[in-house]
Formats: sequence, structure tokens, C-alpha cells
Amino acid sequence: MTRRSAVPPPVTAVLDASSRWLPARLGEVEDRLRAAIVDHGDPLGEDAATTLAAGGKRLRPMLVLLCAGEGGDADRAVRAATAIELVHMATLVHDDVLDEAPLRRGHPTVAATSGRRRAVATGDLLLSRAFAMLADAGDARSVALLAEASVALARGELAQRHDAFDLGVSEERYLARCRLKTATLFECACLLGHDDEHLREFGAEVGLAFQLLDDVLDVTGPPERTGKARGTDLLDGTITLPLIEAARVDRGILEVDLHGLDTDSAVQLCDRIAATGALETVRTRALEMVASGKRQLESAGFEVEQRQLLALVADGVVQRYS
Ligand code: IPE
Ligand code: IPE
Ligand code: MG
Ligand code: MG
Repeated sequence: MTRRSAVPPPVTAVLDASSRWLPARLGEVEDRLRAAIVDHGDPLGEDAATTLAAGGKRLRPMLVLLCAGEGGDADRAVRAATAIELVHMATLVHDDVLDEAPLRRGHPTVAATSGRRRAVATGDLLLSRAFAMLADAGDARSVALLAEASVALARGELAQRHDAFDLGVSEERYLARCRLKTATLFECACLLGHDDEHLREFGAEVGLAFQLLDDVLDVTGPPERTGKARGTDLLDGTITLPLIEAARVDRGILEVDLHGLDTDSAVQLCDRIAATGALETVRTRALEMVASGKRQLESAGFEVEQRQLLALVADGVVQRYS
């Protein structure tokens, strides 16, 4: 049985274009995700279950499964796909602690409802279950890949906190941070599926584009579609490419005291950023990255369906609203 309703468009476009095997394996991932977080007692299990129930696009599991392909070892791929989603969920719960974010996937964050301590513990549970899932199957290569990506992610998140409220942050530093905190996990998803240099490059480009567009969505909203409050990045002092680009056009932005923002003035600053044309500039950059990622697929020796579906995932990254 497939659970198509759990994944919003444009991910559904990938499912619609694929033959039976992909939705079937994604259904198995959902089953394993649920099994991984039950029986850990309240309140730990409760917060993890709420996080899981809020859904998500399941992009990283989809990349693992697609890169592994229909003919690959299905059990290994499903376990790796589940593990990477557990790591992703853990990092979101921890990220909302660091960013003091109120909303995630359209619901109050674990940090907001249960407090920072419980949120840290929930993230820890999810991380532990991810590695246990791979260890159970003796999949040492996947453990090593996922561990490396998890460390990169933590480094990226800490670099972001280090740079917070510093309007002098360079574009290079921003991009390096995004590679660590987001692109590495996309890269890892592809490599978990199949060990191939072109796929690694594909994941890296698409992952970086994903974060650039996420930062655009933080400015544009609307929260009903993104599931997150507009201006969350500005409120926690995160300097993103839309802000860096906007300040090139409207120098006065560099004088804004980010510490003094409240939710209303953050939304006004979002409008000011949008008025500079910076969002189009960033979107164009992201589109170039996606196009470059898709070119990598031409070099990889894949089945036609596999290549087409991976290209659709890449397109989905550009078209997404959540
Ligand atoms: C959110 O990732 C975190 C970022 C890297 C920007 P997703 O947008 O893939 O989160 P879900 O799983 O669909 O909620
Ligand atoms: C990505 O950064 C979060 C992780 C890589 C864990 P963001 O802070 O921009 O992600 P959202 O916007 O909260 O989803
Ligand atoms: Mg965040
Ligand atoms: Mg964001």
C-alpha cells in the first residue's frame, strides 16, 4: 500500500511518473520509520511520533531509493532510506532548538511545545535509531557515510550560529555553510543508494540549490504553504543569500539592527529584500545549480526511468513551496 497523501507535490510528480516499485518502497520506509520510534516511553516517544506524524517531503529517502534503483538490494536501500530520514528529522528537531523556530511542517516545533530539553532528547532518539537501523543489518559503509554527513551537518549548524547577526558574512562563507548543513546530506543520500561520483555531484548541486531556495521561501512565505513563519531566518540572525544579495542593491539594509527585529518588522524587512530583486537573483543561481546537477545524470550510466525520475526530483526542488 502506498501513502501518497503523506508527501506533498511536487514529490507526487515523481511518484506519478514512476512504476510501482518506488511508491511501494517508500511505503516500506514509512512502516520502518514508525517501527523505529515506537516503544521508547513517554514523553520521548510521544515527541518523536508527533514529529513523524507531521509528514515531510521524504526527498532524501526518495533519492536513496532512486539511486539504488529497482534492481538493487531492496532491503539495504529501504533501511538506508529510513535511516537518512531519521537523521534528517533529528536535525530538524535540533535545528528548531538552535533557530528558536515556532513552526515546522505547519505545526508548533517540539522545542515550542515541549521545551528545548525535550527537543534535544527527541533529536538524540531519532539519531540513535538511525544508526541502530543500519547496524542491525551490518551495513558498515552506510554507517560511515551517514556519520560523516551528520558531523558535517553539526559543523554547518554551529558555523551558522557563529555567524549569526553578522551582516558582513560573505557569500563564500554562506555557501560553505550551506554545503555543510544541507548539501552533504543530499550527497550522502545519493551515495547511500549507489557509489558513483556523478551521483555525488548531482546530490551536492541539488542539495545546495535546495538550501538557497529554502532561504528564498523564508523571505516569501506564505506560512500556509511553507509551514514555517516568514522571516524566521532574520529573527534568529541567520544571514542568507537573499539578504546578502539585497544589501548589494539596497545598502541601507546593512544598517538594520537585526537584534531589534520583532515578527512584524522581520516581515517588513522580508518585503524590503524582495523589492530589491534579490529573490530572482538567488532563484536563478539555484536553477543553474539544478541544471548543472542534472547534467551529471547524463554521464551516469543509468536506466532511462531512473534518470528521468532523478531529474524530476531535481525539478521538484525548484518548484517546491514547502
Ligand atoms: C528542511 O528540509 C531543512 C532544510 C535543509 C532546508 P525539507 O524541506 O526537506 O524538510 P521536510 O522533511 O520536507 O519537512
Ligand atoms: C537547514 O537550515 C536545517 C538543517 C540542515 C537541519 P534551516 O534552518 O534554513 O532549515 P529550516 O528553514 O528551519 O527548515
Ligand atoms: Mg531552521
Ligand atoms: Mg530555512
